[in-house]
Amino acid sequence: EPGLCRVEPLGAYGAARHEDATAILKDPQTFSSEALAVTAEPPWIGPNPVARSLLTKDPPAHTRLRALINRAFGASGIARLEVRVREVSERAAEDAVRQGEVDVVEAFTHVVPRDIIGHMLGLDPSTFPHFKRWSQGMAGITAAVTPAQQEECRSVVREMNVALREVIEARRRQPAEDMVSDLLQAEVEGRKLSDDEILSFLFLLLPAGMDTTTQLLGNALLTLARRPEQLERARADQAHVPRFLEEVLRYEPPSQLSFRLATRDVELAGTRIPAGSLVLGIIGSANRDERVFDQPDLFLPGRSKGNQHLTFGYGIHFCLGAQLARLEARIALEAFVSRVRGIQLCSPTVEWIPAIASHGPLSLPVR
Ligand code: HEM
Repeated sequence: EPGLCRVEPLGAYGAARHEDATAILKDPQTFSSEALAVTAEPPWIGPNPVARSLLTKDPPAHTRLRALINRAFGASGIARLEVRVREVSERAAEDAVRQGEVDVVEAFTHVVPRDIIGHMLGLDPSTFPHFKRWSQGMAGITAAVTPAQQEECRSVVREMNVALREVIEARRRQPAEDMVSDLLQAEVEGRKLSDDEILSFLFLLLPAGMDTTTQLLGNALLTLARRPEQLERARADQAHVPRFLEEVLRYEPPSQLSFRLATRDVELAGTRIPAGSLVLGIIGSANRDERVFDQPDLFLPGRSKGNQHLTFGYGIHFCLGAQLARLEARIALEAFVSRVRGIQLCSPTVEWIPAIASHGPLSLPVR
């Protein structure tokens, strides 16, 4: 149907069509990311670096930050990680498969992105087991109501602050071949990133780089369990894995929504949106738009007209980690499928992550 839909209980305007979702993401002047920062920084939390990160900036501040960060995040940085991605994937796949009956989220899909982001951030491996709690604490800020919940969020911000500031200090004293050292050196038109800007970026990367990739891998393994013919093809031909993953990205996107705030009264697809309204690009729906995808409800790896899904967003905020996420997922999946002949779900029902904007299994027991 033409027009936008209302998304309750958020009271938001939702763009379910590919064209309308794209129109929102293309126009940061009208549909702002910056105005959303307030929800990530309620008065009880104090300064929250994520609320001041790249993700919640509009041009021109976004343009400058992204240019500086791009340098440290380019193709050579990703290539530098490939060997480690393979090592971590092989080890985690070996451990998971050896267990026989295993929750693959706990043992595998979480472990690979967690160790890679931990390594990218330059954190000590002894801190990696804290990452799940840290990212839950960051995600919980918008929903925390009880004093205990709020205190947990505050302590997560404190712990992350200490750990990440230590890394920045250490790399300033002694630069290494890594992202934080690159960020400290990055310079555009004579300007460098401030420590607070670097800290905000590192705070953002931890959940942005870990949770979504965990969900992608969980959705991929679930798809392989439910479609054994896809597992057969992936085992027989490694070239099938990237095509398969691209279709998992379209069909089961980990990020379901892009949030923006309307900065003025505006009309989109025949719907009037008052200034100040919350506006959503509904990625999961746009990815099934029959005007863009033939037979959108069929799972068809290697789509002949390409795969213009919006899973990594669109426009100026397009996911910085898209190539890294694809690399991690491809290598992790290769490591897993080469070790199993079949994937059987222990239960016919899947326990999903309980959040409207995220899509992935919370746990996935298989044998
Ligand atoms: C932005 C999805 C993996 C870092 C985004 C956006 C989406 C997204 C939809 C745009 C948000 C918006 O427009 O409001 C995903 C998915 C991933 C993934 C589905 C995995 C399957 C990663 C990884 C990293 C990363 C691995 C880094 C290690 C970022 C950053 C931004 C971003 C820094 C902000 C870019 C900006 O504001 O300019 N991601 N992401 N993401 N992502 Fe990802």
